Amino acid sequence: MAHRTASEPSVLAPGGAPGPADTPAPAAVFDWLDETAELRARAGLTRTLRSRPAEDPVLDLAGNDYLGLTRHPAVTRAAADAALRWGGGATGSRLVTGTTALHTELEDELAEFCGVEAALVFSSGYTANLAALTALTDPDTLIVSDAYNHASLIDGCRLARGDVHRAPHSDPDAVRAALAGRTQRRALVVTDSVFSVDGNAARLPELSAAARSAGAALLVDDAHGLGVLGPGGSGALAAAGLAGEPDTVATVTLSKSLGSQGGAVLGPRRVIRHLTETARTFIFDTGLAPAAAGAALGALRLLRAEPQRADRAREVARTLADRLTAAGLHASTPDAAVVSVRAPGPEAAVAWAADCRRAGLAVGCFRPPSVPDGVSRLRLTARGDLTDAQITDAVRIIASLAPAGATR
Ligand SMILES: Cc1ncc(COP(=O)(O)O)c(C=O)c1O
Repeated sequence: MAHRTASEPSVLAPGGAPGPADTPAPAAVFDWLDETAELRARAGLTRTLRSRPAEDPVLDLAGNDYLGLTRHPAVTRAAADAALRWGGGATGSRLVTGTTALHTELEDELAEFCGVEAALVFSSGYTANLAALTALTDPDTLIVSDAYNHASLIDGCRLARGDVHRAPHSDPDAVRAALAGRTQRRALVVTDSVFSVDGNAARLPELSAAARSAGAALLVDDAHGLGVLGPGGSGALAAAGLAGEPDTVATVTLSKSLGSQGGAVLGPRRVIRHLTETARTFIFDTGLAPAAAGAALGALRLLRAEPQRADRAREVARTLADRLTAAGLHASTPDAAVVSVRAPGPEAAVAWAADCRRAGLAVGCFRPPSVPDGVSRLRLTARGDLTDAQITDAVRIIASLAPAGATR
């Protein structure tokens, strides 16, 4: 039976199935949505859309453009050329008409860059994660998933038909214990490479050893590692010495360091062939738009030509974190290009982020339920293209607007 949580009030009368007297009028069918919106508002969890102007004077530390490539002329030119040559859309799913020469080039170059046998491009990192989790598991699979994994991995676990074990965050011993007690024939260990909220890295060598000793596969979501970690930004698998391993698969998004849109699965050739033939979010989804494939390819070529961009993103992250800490704030220790700063509560975090924006700085704001530990935070993207003066400005604004309780 489906279960409801307290935040999902029922449209049904208490105690059972709807009878004629309980049947809502058409105009009342969605009343329950307003009730849930009210509950979110009372908890300080209202979310709103803001459209940003093309020429925004605000300094952006809220997006995920880690290398500052999304507006690089080589990237926008590659996107425009691809659209002019191939059209505004892919026209169909990848297996029908949605594969162009650009998709194939992107897959080949991504695989080579990351040191794996093959790659398969998806319309987003989200669909790549759903594909990997559903296609690489069956009902006789134990999935061991880090408690802080990204929502797309969690949704992949929900869609997969295997049994899911939620392991404590960043705890290879707990993963090892879960695998040791398994009754299922197969097992898959799944983790983010860099966790979205605090920017801390997964313990990949230990996780790989734990998975390997139990005959399990390892799936790593490298959304925040590609372009930042590993030699020249070749990703977390390369950084951990796991690129090209026969039991290891990575997923990436093209929407962060590569300044575009889309996602990919990277791994052994037979894994990629299996996904091509069976993954529902690959087969039943329109291929990535040519402009996005072109932009990602343009960014990838730029990164290969200028590998120092990855080092610079990590350096900016360390500088930001050090200066925020020196200003008395609780900044995370960044392993990649994400820095978070603790706020005393969700309302204070929202107000702090809004004050920063008014002062000319866009920062992300994470609060429950997006943060698994219940701690609200500002989240900063340490873009590799920031100047030292911009870093100084950002720290000054954040520190001067810090709410009571945010400093040590
Ligand atoms: C860790 C992680 N995985 C997956 C995704 C999803 O990628 P995309 O935005 O390309 O769907 C994101 C993006 O926000 C992410 O942070």
